[in-house]
Amino acid sequence: MIVNMKNLLQQAKNEGYAVPQFNINNLEWTRFILEACEEKQSPVILGVSESAVEYMGGYQTISHMVQDLVQYLNITIPVVLHLDHGKTIESCKDAIDAGFSSVMIDASLYDIEKNIEITNQVIEYAKKRSVSVEGEIGQIGSNSTDINQILLYVQKTDLDALAPALGSVHGVYKGEPNLDFETMTLLKKNIQVPLVLHGGSGIDDKRIKKAISCGICKLNINTDLQIEWSKEVRKFLQNNNTYDPRKIIKSGEDSMKNAIYSKIRLFGSYGKA
Ligand code: 13P
Repeated sequence: MIVNMKNLLQQAKNEGYAVPQFNINNLEWTRFILEACEEKQSPVILGVSESAVEYMGGYQTISHMVQDLVQYLNITIPVVLHLDHGKTIESCKDAIDAGFSSVMIDASLYDIEKNIEITNQVIEYAKKRSVSVEGEIGQIGSNSTDINQILLYVQKTDLDALAPALGSVHGVYKGEPNLDFETMTLLKKNIQVPLVLHGGSGIDDKRIKKAISCGICKLNINTDLQIEWSKEVRKFLQNNNTYDPRKIIKSGEDSMKNAIYSKIRLFGSYGKA
């Protein structure tokens, strides 16, 4: 069942766990993620970056692929099809028109007034179509954002999920992750909108648990699955002469699913579908 993420995140917030966002890169990944989450009865957010949209052949192709896979695989868990880091109002509208149930508008490059204005335009379009919206304030990968800026952004928008820059980075961490738990805790106390942590790969279990206890309700993972999948594929190719792409891509399935199972347990979304 494809749904928006509003109620999923509200439930996660009330019960103190995080819904995983796993980014998809192709049909096989989508299938592995759906099957693994169905097995563990975890709700799931399928994140699609703009570059993945381009790679997979556009919003319509992805939307049809996900809807058809959900049906073909008899998936019963709530599945969110979410545009990750939509950079423009147009890309958010294109995703919505194609059937995405959720979008992220990332206008964090602009000053706060312009960010608010762009975010609100996306919200206006999305809300009429029952699509949820995530917004970004401060830039993920840069320093933690000033709390007053975050509060102003929340006050002036009606977001379903908020991704403030709180010290996490996309991709592999250089050194120890330096998450701003203090601001997370303040936000948990002061705002209603569920918090999102981007760059969830490469963070140790202790910090992840602490982030969830400090109010994180959605955790984004891409790199960790890429690492697990490619490690196995590399091994497989060293030991096999097959040239069948189906066998090559599938060789990473088990290790990728195992990584998904452990994230679901760690995030507490196991059995929450
Ligand atoms: P990682 O690749 O670091 O897991 O980040 C994923 C992400 O935040 C997608 O928006």
